Amino acid sequence: MLLFLSTIAVPSISRVNLLAKPSFFTTLRRFQLPHKYSTRSVSCVHNRTSKRDGDVVVLGIETSCDDTAAAVVRSDGQILSQVVSSQADLLVKYGGVAPKMAEEAHSQVIDQVVQEALDEAYMTEKDLTAVAVTIGPGLSLCLRVGVQKARRIAGGFNLPIIGIHHMEAHALVARVIEKDLQFPFMALLISGGHNLLILARDLGQYIQLGTTIDDAIGEAYDKTAKWLGLDMSRSGGPALEELAREGDAKSVSFSIPMKQHKDCNFSYAGLKTQVRLAIESKKIDAKIPISSASYEDRLSRADIAASFQRIAVLHLEERCERAIDWAMKMEPSIKYLVVSGGVASNQYVRARLDTVVKKNGLQLVCPPPRLCTDNGVMVAWTGIEHFRVGRYDPPPPAEEPEGFVYDLRPRWPLGEEHVEGRSEARSLRTARIHPSLTSLIQASMQQ
Ligand code: KG4
Ligand code: ZN
Repeated sequence: MLLFLSTIAVPSISRVNLLAKPSFFTTLRRFQLPHKYSTRSVSCVHNRTSKRDGDVVVLGIETSCDDTAAAVVRSDGQILSQVVSSQADLLVKYGGVAPKMAEEAHSQVIDQVVQEALDEAYMTEKDLTAVAVTIGPGLSLCLRVGVQKARRIAGGFNLPIIGIHHMEAHALVARVIEKDLQFPFMALLISGGHNLLILARDLGQYIQLGTTIDDAIGEAYDKTAKWLGLDMSRSGGPALEELAREGDAKSVSFSIPMKQHKDCNFSYAGLKTQVRLAIESKKIDAKIPISSASYEDRLSRADIAASFQRIAVLHLEERCERAIDWAMKMEPSIKYLVVSGGVASNQYVRARLDTVVKKNGLQLVCPPPRLCTDNGVMVAWTGIEHFRVGRYDPPPPAEEPEGFVYDLRPRWPLGEEHVEGRSEARSLRTARIHPSLTSLIQASMQQ
């Protein structure tokens, strides 16, 4: 179910990343589980693929950005509950995510969201096998709310806890939907803060084929929607997609980003500037909402929306074509490209990428929109996948000491960069802060 929060006044700050504090989930560790878990865990290590029998039940908690989400999922892929509390009203008011405000909003609803997830699943904490929670990447202030809640539950009920990478969760949730989706596969993860092309070789083993050197596509959708005076209550993307259907996609000529860079990286900052200039030259006033615009005004906004969308998605198409080439050289058995993250709920994006994928003899897997945008199911499911191979932390203490420093990873790469994927155009914003998930897992396997 969806909850909506009331608005609180603070200045708007757009998406930022904050530095990680020293960590508790420093590495993904293996440890001897208490008796009630041990047989499940051991058998899963030996026979991972067949273990979809539903004997593991995980609560997933997600608070990395502006949605407070929780879900209960079973290891046979059954989604027992899913609750999302959206901060849409804050987005409308401030035109972006304000970390302090978002933190406050998460804190206000986290208990209720988790309780509803348990109630909807007809469960109590005692019925859970483990708790999974997003520990990065994302906003520190926001991540902390989810991690604190997860650790309280895990500590109070003696449950193992699994720290989850938000982008891995966006990719792996596709395995709930498509049971035949085996490793290796490719994934394009497109959201408000990320634009990532990966080769998933195995669980926790990812090669980063491309990333954004500045903005993500969702950010470009959101800003374009805002400048066009669209209704931001469901975030900018859906409103822009809708308006674009009324426009002529070839009417305004925008150039495709990074044409000269023969890699798989992305850039949307330049396209945003092109859109802003087009909006200014057509004298579109964002203060006049689209609902009150004249017929001509509406048409000219629709033309910009459609033209923007065409180029924004062409950029994805071009990068995917090249990434498929690269990935097939490394793993010729690949059959699927997963497209996930909030922007993957866009029908135009899906249709265009479907063509690219089919042309290359692959199949597209797109989770349904409610599993593309941020949700607790993806966190719970990724928790299940790691739990089944013995990657989790022991239950935290029932009472955590005052001033306890949580392991939060605001900047946390998913995988190692592909050699050909390094961009000369890369900006400092992509500087690594935390060792990648893949390198941590590799290190833990060598111990
Ligand atoms: O994955 P997500 O829920 O949160 C992040 O991790 O960022 O993605 C949110 C982003 C927003 O930028 C939103 O505008 C975009 O996904 N989005 C869409 C659509 N639905 C959501 N963009 C384009 N078309 C859509 N239909
Ligand atoms: Zn996301």
